Amino acid sequence: MPAVTGDTARGISEQVAGRLAAIDALLPAPVAAEGCGAELAVTGPGGAPAAMATCEHWAGEPGSLDLTWGAARRFQLTPQVAGPDVAAALDGLLARWRDHLADVPDAAEADTAAVITWPTRDIDGARPLLRHGLAPRAVIAARAAGRRPATAVPVDPDVRIRRAGSADLEAVVRLGMETIRYDAHFGTVVERPETPGALRHEAARVLAAPDPWVWLAERDGAAIGLLYAEPPEFAGWIAPMVRAEPVAYLELMDVLAGERGGGVAAALAAQLHRAADESGVAVTLLHYEQVNPLSGPFWHQQGYRPLWTSWEARPASTLR
Ligand SMILES: CC(C)(COP(=O)(O)OP(=O)(O)OC[C@H]1O[C@@H](n2cnc3c(N)ncnc32)[C@H](O)[C@@H]1OP(=O)(O)O)[C@@H](O)C(=O)NCCC(=O)NCCS
Repeated sequence: MPAVTGDTARGISEQVAGRLAAIDALLPAPVAAEGCGAELAVTGPGGAPAAMATCEHWAGEPGSLDLTWGAARRFQLTPQVAGPDVAAALDGLLARWRDHLADVPDAAEADTAAVITWPTRDIDGARPLLRHGLAPRAVIAARAAGRRPATAVPVDPDVRIRRAGSADLEAVVRLGMETIRYDAHFGTVVERPETPGALRHEAARVLAAPDPWVWLAERDGAAIGLLYAEPPEFAGWIAPMVRAEPVAYLELMDVLAGERGGGVAAALAAQLHRAADESGVAVTLLHYEQVNPLSGPFWHQQGYRPLWTSWEARPASTLR
């Protein structure tokens, strides 16, 4: 397909906006992302524009926590697939992307990923994504204001839930690292030498704010559980992923292995949800690893449901 002109791009975006709104009311209207300049577009039957995309070449800042959440270098496709044959248009787009990455020597390096974040309910995408060697990894799940947990279980009265503050930095980092180590089993999250320092740096900033959205569960004065979240003023980075606003983000949640299954996490989540609902938060978002056996079931029970799934090929050159 020749270069995408402004009119063609607008036409595709309008069709995508209509298609996505019909699939999932929480999905935002498509926004064109800054890309590397590669022309990634396909036509459908009769030569009508069917899809376009940009590819961003992202590299994590040395020492940043971003490097923990995935590969050090990410080639991120932002697709806009109008259809009418979504699977065929996406298939063509992924083939263009593969050919583009074949010309990028760095895409063969071990610590790289080809990443596409696809609406979970846009089910026509799954087969083309699999066919091109991408695997579903992290899910962005959403809880709309006011949602209640499926079951309410009383927590052990010896467990105390309290808001954390700056004096709790060590406990927050220790339990936050437990979450990261558990999630690292599933191959997306990477514990790096700089991870504890990066987490400490970020947590110190969050805990210094008045009434941080961070809670600890304690037994006999020792921290056994953590919920670490960002109120809307810290969560602007992820707000564009959802149509409603304001948006909060839950970043870390952990209950020590010997304490699980007793309602500690449910009690922590109830604190966050009360704060979010009282502050007028429209949607709370979080990431969980699709194959984490504990987190997905737990979050669904707490009123979250999948919104986006990120699909990856690692290294990026394994996209086929
Ligand atoms: C996910 C996680 C935080 C949940 O913590 P938890 O304290 O075990 O959660 P809860 O006890 O509130 O709920 C877990 C289960 O115990 C059940 N439960 C809760 N209270 C209970 C009680 N008093 N008696 C019996 N069962 C109870 C819940 O119904 C739930 O059951 P289900 O999974 O069959 O639906 C914990 O498993 C964990 O730390 N995992 C490792 C790190 C991780 O994955 N973090 C999330 C990253 S997104």
